[in-house]
Amino acid sequence: MTKRILFLTCVIGLAAAGAVQLSGQAPRFRVLEPGFPLWAYGYKELPKMPQDWSNRCPGNTPRDCDRPGGMPTDQTGERLTIPGTGKSFTVAEITSPYRPADWYPEDHPPMPPIVANGKEATRFRACAICHYPNGQGLMQNGPVAGLTVDYFLRQLTEMANGKRKSADVNKANAWEMAAMARNLTPEEARLAAEYFASLPYKPWIRVVESATVPVFTATINGLFLDAPGDATEPIGRRIVEMPEDSYQANMLRNPRVGLVAYVPPGSIKAGETLVTTGGNGKTQACGTCHGPDMRGTAIAPPLANRHPGYMARQLYDFQVGARNGDMAVMMKPAVEKLTEDDLIAITAYLASLKP
Ligand code: HEC
Ligand code: HEC
Repeated sequence: MTKRILFLTCVIGLAAAGAVQLSGQAPRFRVLEPGFPLWAYGYKELPKMPQDWSNRCPGNTPRDCDRPGGMPTDQTGERLTIPGTGKSFTVAEITSPYRPADWYPEDHPPMPPIVANGKEATRFRACAICHYPNGQGLMQNGPVAGLTVDYFLRQLTEMANGKRKSADVNKANAWEMAAMARNLTPEEARLAAEYFASLPYKPWIRVVESATVPVFTATINGLFLDAPGDATEPIGRRIVEMPEDSYQANMLRNPRVGLVAYVPPGSIKAGETLVTTGGNGKTQACGTCHGPDMRGTAIAPPLANRHPGYMARQLYDFQVGARNGDMAVMMKPAVEKLTEDDLIAITAYLASLKP
């Protein structure tokens, strides 16, 4: 009899555990699903153990979401320099969460405190640590220079209220970004938006069609870095974007060093057709909303010469409904039928355009 009760309890227990899984509580690891554009989310290969990062920073301390080990470290405390700047910083100063080094203050107007320092008391990192003081950003975060104030503020609102998420629940920096959006005062949000909107977006991505790419590694935050040596590997069906100089970009965080994006041969032309004509109903001509040169309009943000990885990630996020804000519905017809090959072609072409 006791055995029988134990057995029943076990069965009920298992059923209850199953129900939790089915009720939508369980994270959906799209990263493990077919058709997920791994390269766009900064993966070189399938993560062995993706983690649900969505609940790491539910409160008022955004940095709880920071995935440890994301920044380079240097135990020597040596002062490093970029020739011509007249400045030197230690790696700890360069990557300081609440006062990251500003190599070129002459490149931008004075930063509002939220951009330069964040809010240390609530473990809220400076915007400049991820987007750079000049707003150009790297592929794992994205560029914020040259966006309109309107668009910028709408994104913050939608990230704060959960309408804009990343399809990758393992993407720590996207959750930290959302936590920051929730913890900005309206005044801080406005100052940050006005600051980044005032910065012209500078040429940043060099697109190269190539069947091979330098052998590269992926950091835990989703930045691709050229590995030492001259070895190459096949590009395959992906875009491989990496800083022009890994040391300058990753260790020194030199905000004047842009990226090279290797794209499969033929993708720029294929992308031009899709972007300019809509490809016979496959998508829509993007210029109608994003402007003839893809430099943005009052309705839709600029796309020319922005990170292909960032853009492909957004297109996938729109497609699966992770990015589902009030204006995002306008993107639905454009993304519905896109395949991973289309994402490659479209973003290769857009990144190749003059900003
Ligand atoms: C931990 C790194 C990090 C910090 C610090 C950070 N962001 Fe972000 N931000 C991101 C990431 C990651 C994304 C893109 C998420 C994605 O892939 O969808 C993003 C996207 C954005 C976007 C949307 C851009 C677009 O084109 O739609 C805006 C606006 C933005 N951030 C503003 C800010 C502001 C303002 C601050 C400072 C208060 C800030 N960010 C600090 C990581 C960061
Ligand atoms: C009907 C108008 C319309 C068309 C057509 C359109 N878009 Fe958009 N797009 C928008 C709007 C509006 C947004 C901003 C949505 C929001 O606020 O979340 C947007 C946002 C985007 C973003 C996100 C940018 C960022 O900084 O995060 C990308 C990428 C994008 N569109 C690419 C495209 C591409 C590629 C095409 C053509 C294949 C296209 N769009 C066609 C209206 C349009």
